[in-house]
Amino acid sequence: MRSLIDILDFTVEEIDELIKVAMDIIKNPDDYAEKCKRKKLATLFFEPSTRTRLSFEAAMMELGGNVIGFSAANNSSASKGESVADTAKTISCYADIIAMRHPKEGAPLVASKAASIPVINAGDGGHNHPTQTLADLLTIYREKGSLNNFTIGFCGDLKFGRTVHSLINALSRYTGIRVVLISPKELMLPSYVKTDVLDKKNIPYEETTSLEDAMPKLDILYMTRVQQERFFNEEDYLRLKDSYILEPKKLDNAKKDLCIMHPLPRVNEISVSIDNDPRACYFKQVLNGKYMRMALILKLLEEAK
Ligand code: NCD
Repeated sequence: MRSLIDILDFTVEEIDELIKVAMDIIKNPDDYAEKCKRKKLATLFFEPSTRTRLSFEAAMMELGGNVIGFSAANNSSASKGESVADTAKTISCYADIIAMRHPKEGAPLVASKAASIPVINAGDGGHNHPTQTLADLLTIYREKGSLNNFTIGFCGDLKFGRTVHSLINALSRYTGIRVVLISPKELMLPSYVKTDVLDKKNIPYEETTSLEDAMPKLDILYMTRVQQERFFNEEDYLRLKDSYILEPKKLDNAKKDLCIMHPLPRVNEISVSIDNDPRACYFKQVLNGKYMRMALILKLLEEAK
């Protein structure tokens, strides 16, 4: 049974195809309005979410399907001690496809091994978030016209930020990608991502603590929130949470066609006064996420037939 646990589960060609389908959905939404008639998506969210869960639900509804699920662990039998595997087997009796978010790294993988229907990883701890990456890739494609040849700066919590890990993995398969890693020392990209992805694929990268220094080189700036829920102590979080705040004057030395991205939710990382700047792309990412999730649901349901 085909699932999406890690973005590398899909080939570059398969991702190209998802982008193609998403672009067609954008142009011809009516053609897709009944594609998932009588199908059910189960959203099993053991961790908070606004965009990911609701975009999955909206995606399934726009395909003519239905949605069941829960939005917090304490609403499910997990609170009684049920295992992820048993939950996945149970939901396989009710639904056709699962989207699961869980605070433990690897939980969606465990679910995919137990389930008899496709499982989509909607975020597992500080590890991966492949469907946010699909949203990010469509955004880059639509804004820049290509997934090759650009310099991208990742800024903020690169240690716990799962969207960063998945996007770096995805970009490692394209050509001409240069990476700038901007973070406080305590929140640097984990060394396993550096050695297994950046070094292995010979992707040029540099690490800095200064957003100002990095800014002029960037074609894309990917801001992230400091992941409070993954910190062991509140003191460290409070000290690091406002390390980077993007304000209009910080864009003075940025490229005119910079693309500013953020998976959201934002806390203080981007001043609201940037929202109307044509370079702000983070709400476009939200919308692109829905289209890519529609394309993904269609693909996995087709392959499960
Ligand atoms: C991200 C996540 O859950 O990892 N949110 C999202 O799904 N768009 C980013 C975050 O929570 O900071």
